[in-house]
Amino acid sequence: MGATRRQQRNWPRNWAAIALGCLLVRLAAVHRLDGSEPAANAAAAAGPLRLSPSAPQHTDHSGVLELVWLAPNNEFWEGDFLRDVLRRTGRTVVTRTVEPEAAACASSGGSFTVVVPRWISLMDRLPPEFQNGSCTYGIIHPSDEGLYEWPAPQYNRPGVHFVLRQYALPPGSLSDTMRPFGLGYKLGFWDRHLGPEAAAAHISARPLAWSFAGTVHHEERRQALELFAGLTPNSVTHSSAFNAPDGLATAAYRDTLLSSRFVLCPLGHVNLDTFRLYEALEAGAIPVSMSTNPMLIGLNYSGPYWPLVFGSDAPWVVADTWEAAYAEVSALLAGPVHQLEQRRQRVLAFWQQHKEDVARFVSKAIES
Ligand SMILES: *[C@@H]1O[C@H](CO)[C@@H](O)[C@H](O)[C@H]1NC(C)=O
Ligand SMILES: *[C@@H]1O[C@H](CO)[C@@H](O)[C@H](O)[C@H]1NC(C)=O
Repeated sequence: MGATRRQQRNWPRNWAAIALGCLLVRLAAVHRLDGSEPAANAAAAAGPLRLSPSAPQHTDHSGVLELVWLAPNNEFWEGDFLRDVLRRTGRTVVTRTVEPEAAACASSGGSFTVVVPRWISLMDRLPPEFQNGSCTYGIIHPSDEGLYEWPAPQYNRPGVHFVLRQYALPPGSLSDTMRPFGLGYKLGFWDRHLGPEAAAAHISARPLAWSFAGTVHHEERRQALELFAGLTPNSVTHSSAFNAPDGLATAAYRDTLLSSRFVLCPLGHVNLDTFRLYEALEAGAIPVSMSTNPMLIGLNYSGPYWPLVFGSDAPWVVADTWEAAYAEVSALLAGPVHQLEQRRQRVLAFWQQHKEDVARFVSKAIES
C-alpha cells in the first residue's frame, strides 16, 4: 500500500514536501514535543517530524472513517500504518488529534468514529456519548506491550462495535467483535522513498544477507547477533535506546531493510512482538523470529505466538532457538535464489493479506 500512496504523489508536491520536511526537522530540533512515557513505547518522544497526511480530503461525510488520536502531546506513531490498513475498507480516512474531552461522535450518515487511545485510560475521559451507548464507534488499542492495560473494561462499553488491539493475548481472551492485529511500521516509514517498491526489490537486488538495527539490551539479542555474524555481508547498527537519535534515521533504516534478505527480529523489551518485524515485512524482507512469546507464558500460554496475531502460521523463519534459526537461514541462503525469492514474495503477500483481513473485519463490524 506504501506503493499506491507513493505513486499518487506528484513531483512538485514531493519537492515541496522535502523542503518543508527539512524546515520542520530543524524546528523540531528546537521545539521537541515530548511527554513522559511508559517504557513500553517510548516511540512518541523522538522521531522525524513529517508532513501530516491527516488533512480532511473532502467535506462530504459519506463513507468517512474518522480516526481520532486521543493523545495530542504524543506523536501518532501508528498513524501511517493505521491509515494504510483502514483505507482498504474503501472509506476515506480522516485523522483528528484531540484531547479525549473534546472528542465528538461523528458516527452518522455514512461516517464512523474510531478512537485510538494511546493509553486505554484515556477512554475514561471521553464525553458521555461515548460511555452511554448513544455513540457507536470502534477502538484501536495500540502499544500495550507489557499487557498492563488488559483486561480493559472500556472494550465492553455500550456502543463499541469493534476493538482492534496490538499485542495478542492468549486464545479465548477476546470476543468475536475484538481481534488482535500487527504492530505495523513507524510514522514516516515511506516518506521520501524514491527507490523500488518492496515487491520489486528482488532477492538478487538485496546485497545484505541479513541486518539488525536497534539496541542490544539483553542476552538474547547478543546471542543472535553473535551466531549470525558469520553470514555475510550483513549490517548491524546499534543504538542506545528505542528510537534514540543515535540510531539510523528512518529513511536510512528503511533502505537497509529494503537491501536485506533477512532481518533478525529478536525479543523486544519484554514482548516477542516488535515493530522491527513488521517493518521488515513492509520492506519485503524475510523476518527471523522465535516462536513463543515470554509475555504469554506468564498467562499460561506457551504455544506459538504468531498464529494468535495472524490466524495462521507465519511464513517467515520462525524457530524455537537462535541456533535452529541460524541453520535454517544458512540453508536458505545457500539454496537457489529463485526459491528464496518465492519465499520472500509469499511472506510479503501474507503481510498485505493481513492488512486486508483487518480492513474486512472493520467493514463488517461497522455495517453490523
Ligand atoms: C448520552 O449522553 C449524551 C451526551 O450527554 C446525551 O445527549 C444522551 O441523551 C445520553 N444518552 C443516553 C441513552 O443516556
Ligand atoms: C495459570 O494456571 C494456573 C494453574 O491452572 C492457575 O492457578 C493460574 O491462575 C493461571 N494463571 C492465569 C494468569 O491464568
